[in-house]
Amino acid sequence: MKKLPIIIDCDPGCDDTIALLLAFANTSLDIKGVTVSAGNVHINNTTENARKLVGAFRPEIKVAKGCEKPMFKTIVTAPEVHGETGLGSVVIPESGKKLEELNAVEFLAKTLKESDEKITIVITGPMTNIAVFLIAYPELKEKIEKFVIMGGSAIGGNVTPAAEFNIYVDAEAADIVFKSGVDIVLCPLDVTMKAFVTEKELAEIREIGGFASEVAHGAIKNALDFYKEFYKVSEVPMHDPCTIAYLLEPEMFKGVDVFLGTELRGEFTYGETIIDYRNKLGKEKNALVLNEINREAFIELIKKSVETLKDL
Ligand code: RIB
Ligand code: CA
Repeated sequence: MKKLPIIIDCDPGCDDTIALLLAFANTSLDIKGVTVSAGNVHINNTTENARKLVGAFRPEIKVAKGCEKPMFKTIVTAPEVHGETGLGSVVIPESGKKLEELNAVEFLAKTLKESDEKITIVITGPMTNIAVFLIAYPELKEKIEKFVIMGGSAIGGNVTPAAEFNIYVDAEAADIVFKSGVDIVLCPLDVTMKAFVTEKELAEIREIGGFASEVAHGAIKNALDFYKEFYKVSEVPMHDPCTIAYLLEPEMFKGVDVFLGTELRGEFTYGETIIDYRNKLGKEKNALVLNEINREAFIELIKKSVETLKDL
């Protein structure tokens, strides 16, 4: 079976961790590399988390550290959701895995330049690395198959009333990516809030056993505890894994082709994504925006992937 070459640009991060586990477990994906962004926590912590997760499950995959801050703003992080380290209470043993010498932007350029096929880029954090890459290496844009992005919202924000976190941290970077002309599949809060894990399902994931089940449980539980405390609910959306789930089982989702943009100047709306479901602006449609998910199939995929990693 032909494998799908991908690069994952992420800011692990509890839900990024689940996205990585799904990717590690499903060998139909050929992971050409993991590049790390600043977002959920400081770049040093997200990079350490990515290095340790790759070292624990798929040590052959290359990991490259990315930009320390957004293009124009100071960094905004979310330790209240992901814990100070970015992985909640999860402890990953040291594997001795080494980072690439190249930074994320140079790694993206080298990998795309040397690839004899187009590569799909999965983005589950702020898009600073990808935007800087597009500015520095415009000639390599044609080597990108598409972007599959967790970010944005047409149902209100989670960091301001208007803006979702990944866009809000670096909306200028998102604007560059949205205007790049590269095909986009977007997983906004519209669909990721429907991709929730219940306490019962979390316990079932833990019962699978093995280190992957321990990591998945710890990552999801940390996010669940935040949702219990602040939103008084006992289920937690798993935002980032929707990107990998789409690549593995696209039939799990429904979506629409729309114009996608982001606001850069609004006093209250900086980072808001304009998802023009009703085509009110009559602008060119530049994204497939997912807004429905078969949640049971999503949970099944998480369980199946944790099971696969158990036997690694
Ligand atoms: O808004 C959810 C997104 O912000 C997810 O990618 C989560 O990891 C945080 O980065
Ligand atoms: Ca993330």
